[in-house]
Amino acid sequence: MSDLDERRRLLHEIKLNGSLPVHVAIIMDGNGRWAAARGLPRFRGHTAGMKSVREATQGCIEAGVRVLTLYAFSQENWNRPRAEVAALMKLFERYVAKERQELIDEGVEVRVLGDHRRITGAPRKAMESIERATAGGKNLRLNLMISYGGRAEIVRASQRLAERVQKGELDIADIDEQAFANELYTADVPDPDLLIRTSGELRVSNFLLWQLAYTEMFITPLLWPDFTRTHHFEAIHEYQK
Ligand code: IPE
Ligand code: IPE
Ligand code: MG
Repeated sequence: MSDLDERRRLLHEIKLNGSLPVHVAIIMDGNGRWAAARGLPRFRGHTAGMKSVREATQGCIEAGVRVLTLYAFSQENWNRPRAEVAALMKLFERYVAKERQELIDEGVEVRVLGDHRRITGAPRKAMESIERATAGGKNLRLNLMISYGGRAEIVRASQRLAERVQKGELDIADIDEQAFANELYTADVPDPDLLIRTSGELRVSNFLLWQLAYTEMFITPLLWPDFTRTHHFEAIHEYQK
């Protein structure tokens, strides 16, 4: 069976199966290994990974998934060599420029989430402009997690709650799980139903620590640039089982 036939078959079954994941989250890992295996510099792996971002986005739209959350740059990733960090920021700008029209046409609403205090200049502008340009998109909510850390997000939520208590807006007794979740970056979307991690590592790497409490996991040895829409459908199909 050709890849296209297989993809169509999986999509057909996904539609029949029901119990579709509403929210899919992905740890896009393995770009460096993909490049190293080809004797290329690491950034070439990141560049190649852009195609997989498109595939996953398109896959969600076709399958009817409502929310896609992509781990694009972690807080720990700031410790990578300066040149690699710069290349990743540049790539984000390219992504925004290249995909903008397509995202608008497809009805994708993009939100860029994380601690953006360290991001200035052109990449900062790109974040703001893509959010503005895609606001109101009805088919898919795409969360791009950039400079994101799960523990930092929990600390931030605690600070925001404490602030509200201090201002007299909130009683300590009213701090419950819902109140806490309301202060997270993901306050307006349900928790992920399915987490995909590429390149085989069995860890969450500080991703969505609070939100993953009951999430099903799909770990594949495939490296992120090799991950296609067909693989995305395989993961959803597996989840439905
Ligand atoms: C994931 O690929 C992309 C980012 C973290 C930005 P890596 O760069 O972590 O690739 P590996 O894990 O070294 O192969
Ligand atoms: C996770 O990948 C972060 C992103 C995909 C952005 P990393 O390669 O940075 O994480 P570790 O090093 O495997 O934990
Ligand atoms: Mg990695």
